[in-house]
Amino acid sequence: IKRESKFSEVTEDHVSYFKELLGKESAVIDGVTRDATDDIEPFNGDWMRKYRGHTKLVLKPGSTAEVSEVLKYCNDNMLAVVPQGGNSGLVGGSVPVFDEIVINMSRMNQIRSFDSVSGTLVVDAGVVLEVADNYLGERNHIFPLDLGAKGSCHIGGNVATNAGGLRLLRYGSLHGNVLGIEAVLPDGTIVDDLSKLRKNNTGYDLKQLFIGAEGTIGIITGVSIICPQRSNAINVAFFGLESYEKVQEAFREAKGQLSEILSAFELMDSHSQSLVATVTKNKRPLEGDYPFYCLIETSGSNTEHDNEKLEKFLEFVMEKEIVLDGVVAQDATQVKALWGWREGVPECLGHWGGVYKYDLSIPISELYSLVEDIRGKISDAGLIGNGEGYPVVEGGVVGYGHMGDSNLHLNVATRRYDKKVEQVLEPFVYEWISKRNGSISAEHGLGLAKKNYIGYSRSVTMIALMKQIKNLYDPNGIMNPYKYI
Ligand code: FAD
Ligand code: MLT
Ligand code: ZN
Repeated sequence: IKRESKFSEVTEDHVSYFKELLGKESAVIDGVTRDATDDIEPFNGDWMRKYRGHTKLVLKPGSTAEVSEVLKYCNDNMLAVVPQGGNSGLVGGSVPVFDEIVINMSRMNQIRSFDSVSGTLVVDAGVVLEVADNYLGERNHIFPLDLGAKGSCHIGGNVATNAGGLRLLRYGSLHGNVLGIEAVLPDGTIVDDLSKLRKNNTGYDLKQLFIGAEGTIGIITGVSIICPQRSNAINVAFFGLESYEKVQEAFREAKGQLSEILSAFELMDSHSQSLVATVTKNKRPLEGDYPFYCLIETSGSNTEHDNEKLEKFLEFVMEKEIVLDGVVAQDATQVKALWGWREGVPECLGHWGGVYKYDLSIPISELYSLVEDIRGKISDAGLIGNGEGYPVVEGGVVGYGHMGDSNLHLNVATRRYDKKVEQVLEPFVYEWISKRNGSISAEHGLGLAKKNYIGYSRSVTMIALMKQIKNLYDPNGIMNPYKYI
């Protein structure tokens, strides 16, 4: 891609305007009028070390009014921008492609209100997910979304990506949980839709457009969201299984027998767990090595009742040989440790260098066969092995994910990003998904990485309708250009 000449370059005059507007030194990181490249670099690079932009200006507005002023000025001056939350996104959406101005939301980090009767939380977009979850924990509630990047991602970023995560199976997606949004359009208009109502059938539900829009039509500044009551009893079980067929049986039984207390069903293959063991050197939860593992979490209000259900379920799946071995966490520390074997996968995969990531919705019966197909192709191409000569790490073709949501994460861990690997993977993966009417992006979004492949999951008509929305809200195209659709 080429930089679009319609966008202005940032000048000293622009920088002066922003410094005047935002005041504080910490609110403007500027490599135009002073040599600040050291400070700017973290905002230019993504979590996977795959994408790198060249911004010379990072703005940190401290209020919705400031966001409005900033965007209006950028729009009037044809300055392209990239909204940025915790910069934990996995599709290259949160960093500039060229010299777009980064609008970082970290200074808008206040919890605005919480109503413990309805469970409604209202926050600034820049509140870190874990901070909100801890705040809610002290008030006997939880955030309806949880994910491995909770310590750094922002709620605004979560909403902008429509993040799915580890609790979706139980609490549903942000499209259902977000009650209201406050956002700013490129012309400075403040979209004041920060409703706290669960039900509101008065006209088009425009806030939904911002959920998953990845910063392409406006900047989210506030979110109101319904949060569930915290469960008294949380149990986590970790199983080893001999085949993907058995994993499906286990899932069916878990839904049937654990029903209303089932809160997560996550899948990890043996390759993913070996890599975690290699990187962390932690003692593995089960003695043997199994082709598949699953993590099951239950959350309920009555400890005795839950334990009884879980014990019965364990007996059943062991007796019927649906699972070969299993362990149940005995306390909160073990709950955390078992979750670590699932949540730690993305970070451990990055240990060697680059990771090719595919986040896919696939009909559940075929979910794992893609991983096997890819393993075969990578091996046939002679790309996998021990030693520097091979781009793909031994055991580096892995599958894991949110099995309960039919969402597979196919990842290929490499020593370095290599075109030869990419050519084996793409467009093969996308064609494979398209043939099965799956989605090429289940939860991470399109960003820069998946932008060219949306056609594998969406029709020409749907893409044209999406483009109408984009053009309506952002006629100058300054919002997160070169990405999404
Ligand atoms: P960023 O990365 O900063 O931005 C993401 C996108 O949103 C960009 O396009 C950006 O322009 C836009 N954006 C950010 N803030 C705003 C705003 N206020 N207004 C408008 N646009 C904005 N995702 C899942 O769905 N499920 C998971 O289980 C999951 N696990 C993860 C685990 C790890 C270890 C990591 C690193 C990532 C994981 N992710 C997961 C990816 C996920 O998309 C992000 O972690 C998170 O939702 C992004 O939030 P962020 O604040 O970091 O956003
Ligand atoms: C996860 O489920 O762990 C995340 O979506 C991150 C990833 O896919 O690696
Ligand atoms: Zn995920």
